[in-house]
Formats: sequence, structure tokens, C-alpha cells
Amino acid sequence: MRDKIVAGNWKMNNDLAQTEDLLSNIKKSYKKDQDVRVIVAPSFTNLHHAFESLRDSSIDVAAQNMNENSDGAYTGEVSASMLTSIGVKTVILGHSERRAIFKETDALLAKKVDAALENDMEVIFCCGEELNERKAEKHFDVVKSQLEKGIFHVSEGQWNKIVIAYEPVWAIGTGETASPEQAQEMHAFIRKTIAEKFGSELANNVAILYGGSVKPGNAQEIFAKEDVDGGLIGGASLKAEDFLAIVEAF
Ligand code: G3H
Repeated sequence: MRDKIVAGNWKMNNDLAQTEDLLSNIKKSYKKDQDVRVIVAPSFTNLHHAFESLRDSSIDVAAQNMNENSDGAYTGEVSASMLTSIGVKTVILGHSERRAIFKETDALLAKKVDAALENDMEVIFCCGEELNERKAEKHFDVVKSQLEKGIFHVSEGQWNKIVIAYEPVWAIGTGETASPEQAQEMHAFIRKTIAEKFGSELANNVAILYGGSVKPGNAQEIFAKEDVDGGLIGGASLKAEDFLAIVEAF
């Protein structure tokens, strides 16, 4: 039985006061469903506060990024051990905004994955095609290549620390969602690709999340698909009411 996960990626939103507000609203209304794991990913400056605030809840905290090195002269960067030292044990890697805006390559992401796993962290590894790649019918090739180069070097024994998030870039923050059928098609492809490399037992245990304009109104039909194990939510995770409605959509 795979995990069902709803993760909120707050991106570069919310200062400390706004973080306190959002966390307090989430905690007030959140009713734990044994079946669904809930994660929030605030910015670096608010991670420590979020972890302490959620310490007594079952909501986990994730970082949105980290550096691949363990320490040293890397001004402005944050390492895996810094994150684990404040209790954060999950990190989102390979988000399309990191790939596109900050030019993170597959090779760099592979190193970040290694650094996370060496520190016993869980990785939410993002993949997904751009619009022109889908139009050219290259979306399966693109996603397969991202997986092969960024995460397929991970040994079988470490896959219990890996969650995949499929996020078609054309659906992120655009209001345009992949149809449930498009999401299912790609999720099944991702699972098949993992199975071909690592076997179907391992592939069947990997949670694959969908991200891209998930809202309370469309979450249920997306989450109903067989290979969709939850969502990585951007904009809609910034309002407690919407985020929790998505959690309850399972
Ligand atoms: O990490 C989350 C995704 O980028 C989705 O963002 O829900 O605002 O489209 P969005």
C-alpha cells in the first residue's frame, strides 16, 4: 500500500507573520485522516518556526530546495545537515522553477538527491515537460530522461525515501490543469519506467504526486485515478481552507 500525500509548496510566499497565520489556520481546521499524509514546505527562513509549530501535529515540514554540498564557502546556500538539525527531513528537489529559473541540471539534481539521502532525508523529486515538448509529443521522453538522469542512480534500498511529483510545466500556476486522464497516463508511464528498471514491486510502492493548478474543485477527480497518489499544491496551498479541502478530496 503506497502513501497518499498532499504537500503544499508555498514557494517564495509568506513572511513570518503570514506563516504563523497560515499554520495556525491549518492546525485549527485540520482533522487527521489516517490515510493521507500532509506536508507543508515554507521558505527557508520559516522552516524552523513551522517545524516547532507543527511538532505536536501529524503534519510534516519540507524544504523547497537545498545545496548538494555538505558545508563550505557557498554563500547563500543551505545544506542537508542544516535542515535535519532543525528537524526537517524532507526536501523538494528538481521543481521546474529550480530547473528553468535557476538552471538546475539533471546532473546537479542527482548530486542533491545523493546529499539528501546521505543525510537520511526523504526526497520529493519533481519532473515534467514544458508545453512545446508536449505539443511535439516528446513528453514521455522528457520525463523518462529526467528520471533516468536525476534519480535512477538511487539504489533499490533507498527508494523508500523517494516520492515522485509529476508537474507538467504548462499547468503550473496557469489555472490550466492536466486532465485526470493526462495525469493518469503519465503517472502510469512513470510507474512502468520505474518498474522496468527496479521491478514492479518497488514501483508499486512509490508514491507519485500530481502538481499543476490543483484546486478544491478538481482535486477529487485527479486523485481518483489509479496511479495518482496525491498532489504537490502551489497556489491553493496558501489558503488553509483550500489546502485542507484538497486534503479532504481523497
Ligand atoms: O509545486 C507546486 C506546483 O508548482 C504547482 O503549483 O498549484 O500553483 O499550479 P500550482
